[in-house]
Amino acid sequence: MKEFKRYLLTAALPYANGPVHIGHLAGCYLPADIYARYLRARKRDVKFVCGSDEHGVPITIRAMKEGVTPQEVVDKYHAMIADSFAQMAISFDIYSRTSNPVHHKTASDFFTKLYNDGLFEEKETEQYYDEEKKTFLADRYIIGTCPVCGNPSAYGDQCEKCGSSLSPEQLIKPRSALSDAVPVKKTTKHWYFPLQKYEPFLKQWILEEHKEWKNNVYGQCKSWLDNGLQPRAMTRDSNWGVKVPLPDAEGKVLYVWFDAPIGYISATKELTTEWADYWCKDDTKLVHFIGKDNIVFHCIIFPAMLKAHGNFVLPDNVPANEFLNIEGDKVSTSRNWAVWVHEYLKDFPGQQDVLRYVLCANAPETKDNDFTWKDFQDRNNGELVSIFGNFVNRTFVLMHKLCNSKVPPLHNDVMDNLDEQMLAEFAITSRKVETLLEQYKFREALFEVIDLARKGNKYLQEKEPWKKASALDKLTMEDSGNSQQIVDGLRKQIDNSLHISLQLTANLSILVNPFLPFTAKKMNYMMKVVDKMLDWENAGKTKLLSTGYSLRAPELLFRKIEDSEIITQIDKLKAGLIKAQDALNKNNIMTSTQAGNESNDSGNRSQDKPENSAANTIPITKETLKAEIVYDDFAKLDLKVATITAAEKVEKADKLLKLEVDLGYEKRTVVSGIAMHFKPEEIVGKQVVLVANLAPRKMRGIESNGMILMAEDKNGKLYFVSPEIKIDEGSGVS
Ligand code: 2FM
Ligand code: ZN
Repeated sequence: MKEFKRYLLTAALPYANGPVHIGHLAGCYLPADIYARYLRARKRDVKFVCGSDEHGVPITIRAMKEGVTPQEVVDKYHAMIADSFAQMAISFDIYSRTSNPVHHKTASDFFTKLYNDGLFEEKETEQYYDEEKKTFLADRYIIGTCPVCGNPSAYGDQCEKCGSSLSPEQLIKPRSALSDAVPVKKTTKHWYFPLQKYEPFLKQWILEEHKEWKNNVYGQCKSWLDNGLQPRAMTRDSNWGVKVPLPDAEGKVLYVWFDAPIGYISATKELTTEWADYWCKDDTKLVHFIGKDNIVFHCIIFPAMLKAHGNFVLPDNVPANEFLNIEGDKVSTSRNWAVWVHEYLKDFPGQQDVLRYVLCANAPETKDNDFTWKDFQDRNNGELVSIFGNFVNRTFVLMHKLCNSKVPPLHNDVMDNLDEQMLAEFAITSRKVETLLEQYKFREALFEVIDLARKGNKYLQEKEPWKKASALDKLTMEDSGNSQQIVDGLRKQIDNSLHISLQLTANLSILVNPFLPFTAKKMNYMMKVVDKMLDWENAGKTKLLSTGYSLRAPELLFRKIEDSEIITQIDKLKAGLIKAQDALNKNNIMTSTQAGNESNDSGNRSQDKPENSAANTIPITKETLKAEIVYDDFAKLDLKVATITAAEKVEKADKLLKLEVDLGYEKRTVVSGIAMHFKPEEIVGKQVVLVANLAPRKMRGIESNGMILMAEDKNGKLYFVSPEIKIDEGSGVS
């Protein structure tokens, strides 16, 4: 294995167009922080860099929405994001921003080097132009009526109401978001990076030399490379961004995905004069932590840029996470379906580690995962409070009660198998945690730490030092002439159990430190030890606390989270959703997407063909009501909540999807006529209402066992009828 001398960790630069939510944390900032803290504890030379991504269309859109300048937007959100990260103890060595002059110069020089090397291809194309504002319009700046759902404020790349991917040509009555004018097509010149020339290099480097990358990352790269790479425009018509450093490029800036990753280099430059060691020496291990929507940029485009420039190291790994959903539904900033970090910090003061814990325990490392407030409460109450906190608290309380508040000695002459096994576990668990962290398997590593605390509880339970203490009391009080030997034996056994539990507590603080730094600090305070004790080289050691050392009184590490607290949070989510929906319904409101990025032109979104035009609407009137029924007719229906666990297209049937649904007590196959409205991958995980007692029926040779209820609006757009939050599968609907 290659020996690295220094580590350079980057976490995706978040767009400064809104606050960060917990999906961001779980996606890359938390894993990156855990890794950075672990490496620092191992005394490795680490630089962990990040900053705000302050260019690109999302920022200018937000500025328009708020009626302020782009600079005001980035100033506001940069400060907010930086504060959320700081409070969550994301331990960047620098949190910079791409509006800094050093970044503008670095990005500009990078472009110039490629330009001078003759790498760019200049091309003229036709693009939409706003004649009133005298500016070209990115797809996002073109607004019109969505041909799918009739939303009058759909963007030229996507309708945020129904989620369809669009091109400006598909919009009905397109208009400029800047002036309301009808856009016209005009010729413009841009500089294209010939990505296709780097295909052989990328194939060799990724597909042959990095087979160890995570499946989701490797798979996405393979599919891009198998599909063939195309030249990519690295400039845009805009006044917001890094100016294209060429004489004939007035009104043009670098494409945000050209400048943003260079932001990692600029941030390192700002951090240290030795920045070139980290970026140019090949004994640097460069690791990019990102979310899955950024894979192509970090694994294909940026490495090709670095290769073209020369002199730079390439990432050793890009451990991208998938997405974290909230209560069974995709995070959507426009629908306000998100848990905002700054709000969490207000609602749960001093409870950063609980969020860190839940997000790591539930990290979307291999597939999209779900955050629910119930799971948050369960993990806190059932794991942090009942296992980890309980063990540490019991150990401290017993030590104060039974050992005169001092670390008791270890008596080798009364050691038994349980003692030996417990002590041996320290090193075994440390090695496991270490191996898992080196492989970016943060969830599993955390579970090992919790498991060690669980073993500690079991050990104390089996040893029952409190029972030995009362036996000892009894013997001493009765003064029944028992031999000193029995008394000594009991005393020694109590000492051993507490000695081992205390050494275990010290080990736990080292192991938990990368994950829950606030907790580790609190434990150190209670143990009266200095931060040095947290050095990883101490992990696994059995003599960390000296005999006779007196420790502080215990403080509770975690508190129980009450039902009322999570109900408040669920209500807040629902209220936010309703408010956002109202705003959206009022129209002409510009909103931002979940990722808010500019990956839409990256080719990985299929172009949905419009099904219904706005002109072809379904009347919603009293006349369309069906004939009256009695309650008994309705009562015959057995409606149940089910979760879609798999979905695929039915061959040769444009409209049908074959779904696997989970009813809790059984799984079923249902064929549903929704293929024109939803992509299979979008609906997995969705909760739906199923007519569960409908007679089976064969469709295209597949037996369908039930029917999914859908709401249909006047434009023929379908919506799932779902519980507001995720509930138990099989729940009845009436
Ligand atoms: O997706 C995003 O939020 C982008 N702003 C990430 C940029 S990462 C890097 F390239 F800077
Ligand atoms: Zn739409």
